[in-house]
Amino acid sequence: MIIAIDGPAASGKGTLARRLADHFGLRHLDTGLTYRAVAAALLAKGLPLGDEKIAVEMARHLDLANMDKSVLSAHEIGEAASRVATLAALRTELVKLQQRFAAAPPGAVLDGRDIGTVVCPNATVKLFVTASPEARARRRTDELLSKGEQADYKSILEDLKRRDARDSQRTVAPMKQARDAHLLDTTEMDIETAFQAAVDIVTQACDA
Ligand code: DC
Repeated sequence: MIIAIDGPAASGKGTLARRLADHFGLRHLDTGLTYRAVAAALLAKGLPLGDEKIAVEMARHLDLANMDKSVLSAHEIGEAASRVATLAALRTELVKLQQRFAAAPPGAVLDGRDIGTVVCPNATVKLFVTASPEARARRRTDELLSKGEQADYKSILEDLKRRDARDSQRTVAPMKQARDAHLLDTTEMDIETAFQAAVDIVTQACDA
C-alpha cells in the first residue's frame, strides 16, 4: 500500500503524512528532506547550488535514516532545496532512492511535490493537500512564534508565494495535482478535521 501526498509548503501535508503512516502502520518518507539534505551539504561545503555533478554524487551517498529534520528545517535550507530541486539529474537520482523506499514492505506514505505524478504514479491513493497562501503563512508564523523564534507574517507570506511559483513553474517534475489525486483543501480546517478527512479518503479508496 502506498499513499502519495503532494502539496505546497506549509499546507499541513507533512503532519498528515506522518499521522496517516502511524494510523495505517506504514513507513513514512518526507521527500523534501532529501532535497534539503543535498542543499545543506552543498551549502556546508560552500559549493554553488547549481553544481549538478556534485549534487548527484551527494545524492548517491545519502542515507535516508540519517537526515536530521531539526537541522534541515532551517528556512535558508528550504530556499536552497527549492533551487537544487530544479536540477534534472539530481531529481532522477533522488527519485530512485524514494522509489526504493516506497517499494519495501509493508508499504509507505511519501510526501512531497511530485509523488503522485512522478515518484509513485501507481500509488494506492493520492492526496493533494493545499490551503490558501494566507492560511499557510499564518500557520507557519504561529508555529515559529510558539517555538520562541522570530516570525514576520508578511515576509513569510512573500517567501511562500515565491517558493510556490518556483516549485510549480520549473520544467522538471513541477508541483501539480495528479489527475487521479483527491484534493484536500485545509484552509478552513484544523489538523484533526484534516486528518479525519484524509483517513476517510484513504479508507474509501482502499474499499473501492
Ligand atoms: O517540502 P519541503 O519544504 O521540505 O521541500 C523543500 C523543497 O524541496 C521544495 O521547495 C521543493 C523541493 N521538493 C521537490 O522538488 N520535490 C519533492 N518531492 C519534495 C521537495
